[in-house]
Amino acid sequence: MKILVGVTGCIALYKVAELVSSLRKSGNELKIVMTQSAQRLVSKDLFSAVGNCEVYTDSDAFEIKNGFIPHTELSKWPDVLVIAPATANTIAKIAHGIADNLLTMICLAYSGDKKLLVPAMNYRMYENAATQSNLQVLRDRGWWVLEPSIGHLACGEFGKGRYPENEIVQEAIEILGSEKLLRGMKLLVTAGPTWESIDPVRIISNRSSGKMGYEIAKVAVRLGASVTLISGPTCLKTPHFVDEVVKVESAQQMFDAVIQRLEQMNAVIMAAAVADYTPVSASESKIKKDSQQLSISLKKTIDILKHIGEQKKDKILVGFAVETDFLEEYAKEKLVKKNLDMIVANKVQAMGSDQNDVIIFKKDGTVKRVGPDEKSRIALAILSELAELWNRS
Ligand code: CTP
Repeated sequence: MKILVGVTGCIALYKVAELVSSLRKSGNELKIVMTQSAQRLVSKDLFSAVGNCEVYTDSDAFEIKNGFIPHTELSKWPDVLVIAPATANTIAKIAHGIADNLLTMICLAYSGDKKLLVPAMNYRMYENAATQSNLQVLRDRGWWVLEPSIGHLACGEFGKGRYPENEIVQEAIEILGSEKLLRGMKLLVTAGPTWESIDPVRIISNRSSGKMGYEIAKVAVRLGASVTLISGPTCLKTPHFVDEVVKVESAQQMFDAVIQRLEQMNAVIMAAAVADYTPVSASESKIKKDSQQLSISLKKTIDILKHIGEQKKDKILVGFAVETDFLEEYAKEKLVKKNLDMIVANKVQAMGSDQNDVIIFKKDGTVKRVGPDEKSRIALAILSELAELWNRS
């Protein structure tokens, strides 16, 4: 992706050096434009080195070489235009069409719709009615304005104005730069294991880490879906920009959470490893180790996917099959038995790993093998198949 980063004179620009470095490591092509105030805080050489790219400043604004007019050419170059950090002053200029430096000239000449603003400033400057109204003007003109976070500010005060985590800024850039294959889709994704309670201390669970489901949720947002993530217990960070994250423990809680939201959804991906059995009753107090052997009676949980499949109407249903043996046979059997549109078959070794290796079976008989690869790329492959079904429906 080609990303033009405009850097303005806010102390938080030292954090943007890290963003630039991370964007470069992710394989993006960068160009950076710094204002004079930004250059007072740090040399352009730092950004040039961490971004492995050209850094333009106001002295380049009128350096027309071989027909290259910097502000117009630079305004046509990027897939995504980002201003981070964006000071109140630069925000005000862009909102009012003032073009008195290279960066604001580029903003005035930019006609694309992938533009991100990351305000960072003292909280009183941020809350000032002038700044708020300028930000609203920019939102109305199609800028995505990221909310600053609340916390300690460079000036020693506390409030809303902190530069957000770079992870959030980078994810916003990814979202802006991704093709919207799932535009308009309301997608429910389940992830992780479930915990079935034996007593207040012990549970029955499985080895699912939740990584596959979380990657699916994250990539689906990038592709333009409105995502609800229903997750069993995991150690993972909640993905940014999903509409809703619902944390559950047991299979029954996951069932209730899914059913409660099902009506509004266009598609469901059940990536969760739902427990098939749960104790008939959970002990209210801790079971003591008095006997040499202990038996726990288990009863079947409700099969959420099968239940949805029986009454699915026009929803697209995607299941997973984790197997040790006869992977393809069992997966195809589940595709039919649960009335699915697509099933993703993966080996049990994928559980907990960052990689996966899958076979995707569709109801129409098509089969696709993907991997071994990072779960994020496997997620993209699964969602591209989902997009194909979505565009067909
Ligand atoms: N699933 C579900 N509810 C359950 C069990 C499984 O919705 N109580 C879903 C899983 O999320 C997955 C699919 O069904 O998408 C297949 O799960 P899997 O454990 O592979 O198969 P099961 O149907 O449970 O059958 P078995 O354990 O006998 O292989």
